[in-house]
Amino acid sequence: MSQQPVLLPYGDPAFVTDPFPLYRQLREAGPVRRAVIAGGLDAWLVTRYEDGLAALSDPRLSSDIRDAADPRLVAQLPETERESMMSNMLRSDPPDHTRLRRLVSKAFTARRIAELRPRVQEITDRLLDEVVPAGRAELIADFALPLPVTVISELLGVPLDDRYEFQQWTDDLLVRGERPPDPAVMNEAWRRMRAYLTKLLEIRRSEPADDLLSALISARDDEHRLNEDELIAMVFLLLVAGYITTVNLIGSGIAALLAHPDQLRLLRDDPELLPDAIEEFLRYDGPVSPGIARFAREEVEIAGVSVPRGATVLIASAIADRDPARFSDPDRLDVTRRDNGHLAFGHGIHYCLGAPLARLEGHIAIGTVLRRLPDLALAVPPADLNWRPGGLRGPLRLPVTFKPG
Ligand code: HEM
Repeated sequence: MSQQPVLLPYGDPAFVTDPFPLYRQLREAGPVRRAVIAGGLDAWLVTRYEDGLAALSDPRLSSDIRDAADPRLVAQLPETERESMMSNMLRSDPPDHTRLRRLVSKAFTARRIAELRPRVQEITDRLLDEVVPAGRAELIADFALPLPVTVISELLGVPLDDRYEFQQWTDDLLVRGERPPDPAVMNEAWRRMRAYLTKLLEIRRSEPADDLLSALISARDDEHRLNEDELIAMVFLLLVAGYITTVNLIGSGIAALLAHPDQLRLLRDDPELLPDAIEEFLRYDGPVSPGIARFAREEVEIAGVSVPRGATVLIASAIADRDPARFSDPDRLDVTRRDNGHLAFGHGIHYCLGAPLARLEGHIAIGTVLRRLPDLALAVPPADLNWRPGGLRGPLRLPVTFKPG
């Protein structure tokens, strides 16, 4: 296909704030579009819902970056740390993926996660207690970030006092903007993260507790179902996946409501709509944007377009989730929307393991904000919200005012 790749302009603040006009153009221009995505990588964007759904369950599309032809994908990972950075379930295919996912899936079932409800509510209330008297807050730093960080740290058994360090390393490891990440910065961040996790695992080995870290250590030591690299990679994945996206769900959800006062009113009047509203926030402006990467193990035809072996295929869930062939009036935020089969958590064997947890946190966080912060309003014009550039999307800051309690 002789298409010129379209550049996703992460250097352009208008695009970073509102990528949807360009997303729409891309979808309308064809089912598969070549594009230069975050990190300067070339990809084939799958822009329509039905094709996205099919691609996410196509075994010819791999999650393992060793199947990518573009040498930059592997080269940008620090050489000494490559093995451990690539040994996680998100980046593996069956049979490794099946084995790794099975080790932790029991801890994330809807029933197990529902048991966390009182504790998530308690953390939520404690964080809001701090801001309620002031009548103003920066809802990302004060609320949307510390909530999921606290929940996942407790679930894993990672000391909460260490959160500032691991947040910094995670930040250094994320691809942001147009340029590839700096390998030296990544290397240092991963080295520190690995040293930290290794020490933490040693401590838990000598003093097991009732947490996921201890359970994973026994899977490694007693049953040999996990090697050391995989153990480190698993803890890292759960820790990071456990908060980085949920912050964005809470932030984007509140930002969307503040931009749509009619929808905010509907939800305040009828909190029973909350579960549907959470699904709508995920569809309307989900945290993974534009989408989910795969690598073609062989030449594959997608919607009549031949994609070469080794190509990076980006299933653009955020574009597909506004496909008018699947969703009526797709650019409209509608908290009463039903039949919302969005792709924000992916689809198929890699479907987000943490979806029940993210939904629970989103539900409690946004529901409690609406209940406890009356007259909630943005403290800056919407155009001044600072959005995260790159493959993850959400407001970096959310300054608000409300009636002090
Ligand atoms: C996988 C999104 C929250 C853990 C995924 C995938 C997506 C996603 C799109 C599929 C990636 C792929 O197919 O390559 C989200 C969003 C979240 C969220 C939008 C919040 C709103 C969480 C939470 C956890 C978590 C709270 C908790 C630990 C995981 C894991 C995987 C995953 C372990 C890999 C599953 C696999 O490879 O089988 N997530 N996630 N996520 N997510 Fe989430």
